[in-house]
Amino acid sequence: MLKIGVLISGNGSNLQALIDEVKAGRLPAEIALVLSDNPEAYGLKRAAAAAIPARFLPPGPKRTVLSPEAEAAYADAFKQAGVELVCLAGFMRVIKAGLLAAFPGRILNIHPSLLPSFPGLAAWKQALDYGVRYTGCTVHLVEAGVDTGPIILQAVVPVEANDTPETLLNRIHREEHRIYPEAVRLFAESRVRLDGRRAVVTD
Ligand code: GAR
Repeated sequence: MLKIGVLISGNGSNLQALIDEVKAGRLPAEIALVLSDNPEAYGLKRAAAAAIPARFLPPGPKRTVLSPEAEAAYADAFKQAGVELVCLAGFMRVIKAGLLAAFPGRILNIHPSLLPSFPGLAAWKQALDYGVRYTGCTVHLVEAGVDTGPIILQAVVPVEANDTPETLLNRIHREEHRIYPEAVRLFAESRVRLDGRRAVVTD
């Protein structure tokens, strides 16, 4: 059974999607540990309600990255829990060398746009403001950049003429909650391999 570790900063609805799929027996994985850089993250409560070990780990003084010491502590905690795959689920910091070296090619992120369009913050709002007709969400392998890395799965979401940021984000979230567990399932079934910079999914 693939042991996964989840990193959150807030609501944790993608964490919940993973919890629900594991519980339903549709995802052959065990969520071994949830870590948060925010002690108030609602996702910590979701994990506790599902009897999953979860805790806040201090992120260090910077807002956009973990300090090197914090990153080492996050990596140690995941290693001690036997984690094989790390899933960023609304973790709002850029991952650096400490975690990347500890889990090479084994960190996933979900992002609310069709990457490489609209990386960074409030990607659904960026898409709405730009006026694109379609946006969506992307699961990708994490590299040192902001929302870059080989793409595993994407889902397309239409932008409606009367969309507000909230209505568009709701539609994107529904697709996120479908493709994130699906991407983890591909990993659990060893169906993802890298061909240069491209991730290839095998049958
Ligand atoms: C999700 O929409 C995820 O795609 C986004 O944060 C949200 C977290 O929601 N992540 C990023 O923007 C990363 N750049 P959740 O806490 O309810 O899962």
